[in-house]
Amino acid sequence: MSVHKEIKKVTTNVLQEMKRRGEKIAMLTAYDYTMAKIIDSAGIDVILVGDSASNVMAGHETTLPITLDQMIYHAGSVIRAINRPLVVVDLPFGSYQANSKEALNSAIRIMKESGAHAVKLEGGREIKESIERILTAGIPVMGHLGLTPQSIYKFGTYNVRAKEEEEADRLLEDAKLLEQYGCFALVVEKIPAVLATTVSQSISIPVIGIGAGAGTDGQVLVTHDMLGMTHEFSPRFLRRYLNLYESMGNAFKQYITDVKSKDFPSDKEQY
Ligand code: KIV
Repeated sequence: MSVHKEIKKVTTNVLQEMKRRGEKIAMLTAYDYTMAKIIDSAGIDVILVGDSASNVMAGHETTLPITLDQMIYHAGSVIRAINRPLVVVDLPFGSYQANSKEALNSAIRIMKESGAHAVKLEGGREIKESIERILTAGIPVMGHLGLTPQSIYKFGTYNVRAKEEEEADRLLEDAKLLEQYGCFALVVEKIPAVLATTVSQSISIPVIGIGAGAGTDGQVLVTHDMLGMTHEFSPRFLRRYLNLYESMGNAFKQYITDVKSKDFPSDKEQY
Protein backbone atom coordinates (compact mmCIF):
# COMPACT_ATOMS: atom_id res chain seq x y z
CA MET A 1 0.00 0.00 0.00
CA SER A 2 1.22 3.53 -0.72
CA VAL A 3 2.28 5.93 2.00
CA HIS A 4 -0.37 8.22 0.51
CA LYS A 5 -3.32 6.05 1.55
CA GLU A 6 -2.13 5.28 5.08
CA ILE A 7 -1.44 8.75 6.41
CA LYS A 8 -3.89 11.15 8.00
CA LYS A 9 -1.78 14.31 7.73
CA VAL A 10 1.05 14.93 5.31
CA THR A 11 4.16 16.28 7.02
CA THR A 12 7.63 17.04 5.72
CA ASN A 13 8.71 13.63 7.10
CA VAL A 14 5.96 11.92 5.13
CA LEU A 15 7.20 13.56 1.92
CA GLN A 16 10.73 12.38 2.69
CA GLU A 17 9.42 8.85 3.21
CA MET A 18 7.48 9.03 -0.07
CA LYS A 19 10.69 9.89 -1.90
CA ARG A 20 12.50 7.06 -0.18
CA ARG A 21 9.78 4.61 -1.22
CA GLY A 22 9.54 5.98 -4.75
CA GLU A 23 5.95 7.21 -4.36
CA LYS A 24 5.37 10.32 -6.45
CA ILE A 25 4.21 13.46 -4.66
CA ALA A 26 1.15 15.30 -6.08
CA MET A 27 0.99 19.04 -5.45
CA LEU A 28 -1.48 21.67 -6.72
CA THR A 29 -2.00 25.35 -6.04
CA ALA A 30 -5.01 26.78 -4.20
CA TYR A 31 -5.83 30.28 -3.08
CA ASP A 32 -9.35 30.03 -1.67
CA TYR A 33 -11.49 27.94 0.68
CA THR A 34 -13.83 26.27 -1.82
CA MET A 35 -11.14 25.12 -4.24
CA ALA A 36 -8.87 23.95 -1.39
CA LYS A 37 -11.72 21.85 0.04
CA ILE A 38 -12.28 20.06 -3.27
CA ILE A 39 -8.55 19.48 -3.79
CA ASP A 40 -8.14 18.16 -0.23
CA SER A 41 -11.03 15.72 -0.59
CA ALA A 42 -9.48 14.40 -3.82
CA GLY A 43 -6.45 13.31 -1.75
CA ILE A 44 -3.69 15.75 -2.74
CA ASP A 45 -0.39 15.52 -0.83
CA VAL A 46 0.68 19.18 -0.87
CA ILE A 47 -1.19 22.42 -1.52
CA LEU A 48 0.88 25.39 -2.59
CA VAL A 49 -0.58 28.81 -1.90
CA GLY A 50 1.51 30.16 -4.75
CA ASP A 51 2.22 33.76 -5.55
CA SER A 52 0.72 32.76 -8.91
CA ALA A 53 -2.38 34.10 -7.10
CA SER A 54 -1.06 37.43 -8.38
CA ASN A 55 -1.78 36.20 -11.94
CA VAL A 56 -4.79 33.92 -11.66
CA MET A 57 -6.67 35.60 -8.83
CA ALA A 58 -5.71 39.26 -9.19
CA GLY A 59 -5.02 39.46 -12.95
CA HIS A 60 -1.51 40.90 -12.71
CA GLU A 61 0.90 40.14 -15.52
CA THR A 62 3.62 38.97 -13.10
CA THR A 63 3.87 37.62 -9.55
CA LEU A 64 5.65 40.73 -8.33
CA PRO A 65 2.72 42.90 -7.15
CA ILE A 66 1.15 40.49 -4.64
CA THR A 67 1.73 41.55 -1.03
CA LEU A 68 2.47 39.63 2.16
CA ASP A 69 -0.96 40.61 3.55
CA GLN A 70 -2.66 39.26 0.44
CA MET A 71 -0.71 35.98 0.63
CA ILE A 72 -1.73 35.62 4.28
CA TYR A 73 -5.37 36.19 3.31
CA HIS A 74 -5.21 33.45 0.63
CA ALA A 75 -3.29 31.08 2.92
CA GLY A 76 -5.79 31.51 5.78
CA SER A 77 -8.68 30.70 3.43
CA VAL A 78 -6.92 27.51 2.28
CA ILE A 79 -5.98 26.43 5.80
CA ARG A 80 -9.60 26.67 6.95
CA ALA A 81 -10.56 24.18 4.22
CA ILE A 82 -8.03 21.41 4.54
CA ASN A 83 -7.48 18.29 6.65
CA ARG A 84 -4.78 16.21 5.07
CA PRO A 85 -2.28 18.02 2.84
CA LEU A 86 0.82 19.95 3.82
CA VAL A 87 0.18 23.61 3.02
CA VAL A 88 3.17 25.57 1.71
CA VAL A 89 2.96 29.34 1.17
CA ASP A 90 5.10 31.45 -1.15
CA LEU A 91 6.95 34.33 0.44
CA PRO A 92 6.04 37.08 -2.04
CA PHE A 93 8.47 39.30 -3.90
CA GLY A 94 9.88 42.02 -1.62
CA SER A 95 9.14 40.16 1.62
CA TYR A 96 12.50 38.36 1.96
CA GLN A 97 15.10 39.66 -0.48
CA ALA A 98 16.34 42.65 1.56
CA ASN A 99 17.82 40.71 4.47
CA SER A 100 17.40 37.58 6.56
CA LYS A 101 15.66 39.41 9.41
CA GLU A 102 12.95 40.61 7.08
CA ALA A 103 12.70 37.10 5.63
CA LEU A 104 12.22 35.62 9.09
CA ASN A 105 9.61 38.23 10.05
CA SER A 106 7.66 37.56 6.85
CA ALA A 107 7.79 33.80 7.38
CA ILE A 108 6.66 34.18 11.00
CA ARG A 109 3.73 36.37 9.92
CA ILE A 110 2.63 33.72 7.39
CA MET A 111 2.82 30.89 9.93
CA LYS A 112 1.20 32.84 12.77
CA GLU A 113 -1.55 34.65 10.88
CA SER A 114 -2.58 31.94 8.40
CA GLY A 115 -1.75 28.69 10.21
CA ALA A 116 0.25 27.39 7.21
CA HIS A 117 2.79 24.58 7.58
CA ALA A 118 5.79 25.78 5.55
CA VAL A 119 7.06 28.56 3.30
CA LYS A 120 8.65 28.59 -0.16
CA LEU A 121 11.36 30.99 -1.34
CA GLU A 122 12.78 31.44 -4.82
CA GLY A 123 16.56 31.27 -5.27
CA GLY A 124 19.72 29.39 -4.39
CA ARG A 125 22.97 30.37 -2.65
CA GLU A 126 22.04 34.08 -2.66
CA ILE A 127 19.29 33.46 -0.07
CA LYS A 128 21.34 31.15 2.18
CA GLU A 129 21.14 33.41 5.23
CA SER A 130 17.39 33.88 4.92
CA ILE A 131 16.74 30.16 4.62
CA GLU A 132 18.93 29.35 7.61
CA ARG A 133 17.38 32.09 9.74
CA ILE A 134 13.82 30.97 8.93
CA LEU A 135 14.80 27.40 9.79
CA THR A 136 16.14 28.48 13.19
CA ALA A 137 12.56 29.52 14.06
CA GLY A 138 11.37 25.99 13.27
CA ILE A 139 9.67 26.92 10.01
CA PRO A 140 10.11 24.37 7.21
CA VAL A 141 11.43 25.85 3.95
CA MET A 142 10.83 24.66 0.39
CA GLY A 143 13.26 25.92 -2.26
CA HIS A 144 12.48 26.92 -5.85
CA LEU A 145 15.04 26.85 -8.71
CA GLY A 146 14.98 27.08 -12.50
CA LEU A 147 12.42 29.52 -13.82
CA THR A 148 11.79 31.69 -10.78
CA PRO A 149 8.98 34.07 -11.82
CA GLN A 150 9.88 36.72 -9.22
CA SER A 151 13.06 37.31 -11.32
CA ILE A 152 11.22 37.63 -14.63
CA TYR A 153 12.63 41.07 -15.33
CA LYS A 154 16.16 39.69 -14.93
CA PHE A 155 15.45 36.70 -17.24
CA GLY A 156 13.42 38.72 -19.75
CA THR A 157 11.35 35.69 -20.84
CA TYR A 158 9.44 32.69 -19.44
CA ASN A 159 11.54 30.34 -21.63
CA VAL A 160 13.06 27.07 -20.40
CA ARG A 161 15.99 27.71 -18.00
CA ALA A 162 19.35 25.98 -17.59
CA LYS A 163 19.68 24.66 -21.14
CA GLU A 164 23.33 25.71 -21.24
CA GLU A 165 25.93 23.76 -19.28
CA GLU A 166 27.03 26.66 -17.08
CA GLU A 167 23.53 27.44 -15.82
CA ALA A 168 22.72 23.73 -15.46
CA ASP A 169 25.87 23.17 -13.36
CA ARG A 170 25.01 26.13 -11.16
CA LEU A 171 21.44 24.89 -10.69
CA LEU A 172 22.65 21.43 -9.65
CA GLU A 173 25.08 23.03 -7.17
CA ASP A 174 22.30 25.26 -5.82
CA ALA A 175 20.03 22.23 -5.35
CA LYS A 176 22.75 20.52 -3.29
CA LEU A 177 23.26 23.71 -1.27
CA LEU A 178 19.52 24.06 -0.55
CA GLU A 179 19.56 20.52 0.79
CA GLN A 180 22.62 21.36 2.93
CA TYR A 181 20.97 24.52 4.30
CA GLY A 182 18.07 22.37 5.48
CA CYS A 183 15.25 22.81 2.93
CA PHE A 184 12.76 19.92 3.18
CA ALA A 185 11.94 19.93 -0.55
CA LEU A 186 12.58 21.79 -3.75
CA VAL A 187 10.52 22.95 -6.73
CA VAL A 188 12.25 22.99 -10.12
CA GLU A 189 10.41 24.95 -12.77
CA LYS A 190 10.76 24.73 -16.54
CA ILE A 191 14.17 23.09 -16.88
CA PRO A 192 15.25 20.21 -19.16
CA ALA A 193 13.94 16.82 -18.02
CA VAL A 194 17.42 15.28 -18.01
CA LEU A 195 18.71 17.96 -15.64
CA ALA A 196 15.66 17.65 -13.36
CA THR A 197 16.22 13.89 -13.16
CA THR A 198 19.88 14.42 -12.29
CA VAL A 199 18.93 16.92 -9.57
CA SER A 200 16.34 14.50 -8.12
CA GLN A 201 18.86 11.67 -8.05
CA SER A 202 21.64 13.83 -6.59
CA ILE A 203 19.88 15.00 -3.45
CA SER A 204 17.89 13.18 -0.79
CA ILE A 205 15.10 15.76 -0.33
CA PRO A 206 12.02 15.53 -2.62
CA VAL A 207 12.22 17.47 -5.89
CA ILE A 208 8.87 18.55 -7.29
CA GLY A 209 8.78 19.57 -10.93
CA ILE A 210 6.67 21.84 -13.10
CA GLY A 211 7.64 21.61 -16.75
CA ALA A 212 10.61 19.51 -15.65
CA GLY A 213 9.71 16.04 -16.97
CA ALA A 214 8.88 12.72 -15.39
CA GLY A 215 12.09 12.07 -13.45
CA THR A 216 11.33 14.26 -10.43
CA ASP A 217 9.88 13.00 -7.15
CA GLY A 218 6.59 14.79 -7.71
CA GLN A 219 4.66 17.20 -9.89
CA VAL A 220 2.96 20.54 -9.33
CA LEU A 221 0.56 22.44 -11.57
CA VAL A 222 -1.35 25.66 -11.17
CA THR A 223 -4.91 24.44 -10.53
CA HIS A 224 -6.60 27.07 -12.70
CA ASP A 225 -4.39 25.97 -15.62
CA MET A 226 -4.97 22.22 -15.25
CA LEU A 227 -8.72 22.82 -14.97
CA GLY A 228 -8.64 24.78 -18.22
CA MET A 229 -9.92 28.00 -16.68
CA THR A 230 -6.97 30.00 -18.04
CA HIS A 231 -7.42 29.09 -21.70
CA GLU A 232 -4.94 31.68 -23.02
CA PHE A 233 -1.99 29.95 -21.26
CA SER A 234 -0.82 26.83 -23.13
CA PRO A 235 2.76 25.78 -22.36
CA ARG A 236 3.82 22.34 -23.60
CA PHE A 237 4.13 20.92 -20.08
CA LEU A 238 0.53 21.70 -19.14
CA ARG A 239 -1.97 18.83 -19.15
CA ARG A 240 -5.54 20.11 -19.08
CA TYR A 241 -7.94 17.81 -17.23
CA LEU A 242 -11.03 19.92 -17.98
CA ASN A 243 -12.04 22.77 -20.22
CA LEU A 244 -13.72 24.83 -17.52
CA TYR A 245 -13.34 28.04 -19.50
CA GLU A 246 -15.81 26.62 -22.00
CA SER A 247 -18.13 24.80 -19.60
CA MET A 248 -18.34 27.71 -17.18
CA GLY A 249 -18.86 30.13 -20.05
CA ASN A 250 -21.73 27.96 -21.34
CA ALA A 251 -23.30 27.82 -17.86
CA PHE A 252 -23.10 31.62 -17.54
CA LYS A 253 -24.63 32.08 -21.00
CA GLN A 254 -27.44 29.68 -20.15
CA TYR A 255 -28.14 31.53 -16.88
CA ILE A 256 -28.30 34.87 -18.70
CA THR A 257 -30.69 33.39 -21.26
CA ASP A 258 -32.86 31.86 -18.52
CA VAL A 259 -33.08 35.14 -16.58
CA LYS A 260 -33.86 37.21 -19.64
CA SER A 261 -36.46 34.72 -20.94
CA LYS A 262 -38.03 34.55 -17.43
CA ASP A 263 -37.40 30.78 -17.40
CA PHE A 264 -35.49 31.26 -14.10
CA PRO A 265 -36.73 31.12 -11.40
CA SER A 266 -39.50 28.59 -12.00
CA ASP A 267 -42.43 27.99 -9.65
CA LYS A 268 -40.37 25.31 -7.88
CA GLU A 269 -37.44 27.68 -7.37
CA GLN A 270 -39.31 30.21 -5.27
CA TYR A 271 -41.01 30.43 -1.84
O1 KIV B 1 3.34 30.37 -7.51
C1 KIV B 1 3.23 29.22 -7.97
O2 KIV B 1 2.15 28.76 -8.35
C2 KIV B 1 4.43 28.41 -8.08
C3 KIV B 1 4.36 27.13 -8.84
C4 KIV B 1 4.34 27.41 -10.30
C5 KIV B 1 5.43 26.18 -8.48
O3 KIV B 1 5.45 28.78 -7.56
